[in-house]
Amino acid sequence: MLAGKRILLIIGGGIAAYKCLDLIRRLKERGACVTPVLTRAAQEFVTPLSVSALAGEKVYTDLFDLTDEAEMGHIQLSRVADLVLVAPATADLMAKMAGGHANDLATTLLMATDTPVMIAPAMNLRMWEHAATQRNLATLLGDKVQVIGPNNGDMACGEHGPGRMSEPMEIVAAVELALSDGPLRGKRVLVTSGPTHEPIDPVRYIANRSSGAQGTAIASALASLGAEVVFVTGPADVAPPSGVKVVAVQSAAEMLQAVQNALPVDAGVFAAAVADWRVKRESNSKIKKQDGKLPILEFAENPDILAEVSQMKKDRPGLVVGFAAETDDVIANATAKRKRKGCDWIVANDVSPETGIMGGTENAVHLITDDGVEDWPRMGKGEVARQLAERIAAALG
Ligand code: CTP
Repeated sequence: MLAGKRILLIIGGGIAAYKCLDLIRRLKERGACVTPVLTRAAQEFVTPLSVSALAGEKVYTDLFDLTDEAEMGHIQLSRVADLVLVAPATADLMAKMAGGHANDLATTLLMATDTPVMIAPAMNLRMWEHAATQRNLATLLGDKVQVIGPNNGDMACGEHGPGRMSEPMEIVAAVELALSDGPLRGKRVLVTSGPTHEPIDPVRYIANRSSGAQGTAIASALASLGAEVVFVTGPADVAPPSGVKVVAVQSAAEMLQAVQNALPVDAGVFAAAVADWRVKRESNSKIKKQDGKLPILEFAENPDILAEVSQMKKDRPGLVVGFAAETDDVIANATAKRKRKGCDWIVANDVSPETGIMGGTENAVHLITDDGVEDWPRMGKGEVARQLAERIAAALG
């Protein structure tokens, strides 16, 4: 809920501006007070009248409007909010923010504010991928600007790819998270999830049956307690949660690199089903059939990401949580795994086919810590995630 929260919504000049009408409605439904600011270009896409009608507030457009200055100066306008939200954040607006421009009301407010800023970028995919935009994005992230999206998909310009503004409900979830007062506020947590794909050649790979459901639920539960979550995911069946930073990878080697890039973190939860082996020599071209001769694949062992992070001298997270998916002697194997890898906690479960846990909606886990083994009753994966997130919050205190 956003009851009593004040959001200064800066609407940039892009076709996605139309989504802001719904965004305002959704924010207000949750009790937020939305003060809209339209750039000059935004007024080509939505009218101040429709924005004002939905927000139930005066719309600000011009830096040099003396009536506005008399009512509320632009410095004050930039400071009364709990969050400044820029949606859509166009390539131009991002460039101006990164460069510290202040030549209209929107950019002046962004320069003058001392409250957190979140942007929802939206632009053509080539503009999004352009080195200049990516440079500006890196600058803004360094300036502690929070970024939601953009999503992949069809664009108004007829192209397909990253650049679509996040949907209003995704933005609302990110805003709720940014303004939440949960126990993990200010903590940074890494979650790995999903399977990995180990390439054989450009069209074939080795994979496993992990759906990513449990890891996704854990990332979502941690985020809803206020954590800043870096979600490193292999190619999973379930969509990543909103309100987390998603780093999509394919192989174990890529996952290790992404995990190293995410450090330092306060806690790491390693829920991914990482392939233990990769094909030693990936073929650069498709392996062809050869008159009944069968290809021979030689394997190499993948890095053990959980073990590497657990045994780090520098940058080891304060709390490292591993998983153990077992089919026999669950507790004994998981207890040995915890010791061997050097993690603090192990969440162990029996993934024998008759349990229906792998790929299912429920889980029955044992939490193994320094204090011993706790047997949790069988429950939904969402509930396991919530309880685990609460335990992590208590441990990080
Ligand atoms: N793990 C990892 N990197 C690997 C293999 C596993 O980070 N290359 C992590 C998993 O994310 C999980 C834990 O290690 O948190 C245990 O994974 P599991 O597959 O149960 O154990 P393995 O190390 O593969 O051991 P075994 O195959 O002998 O059961």
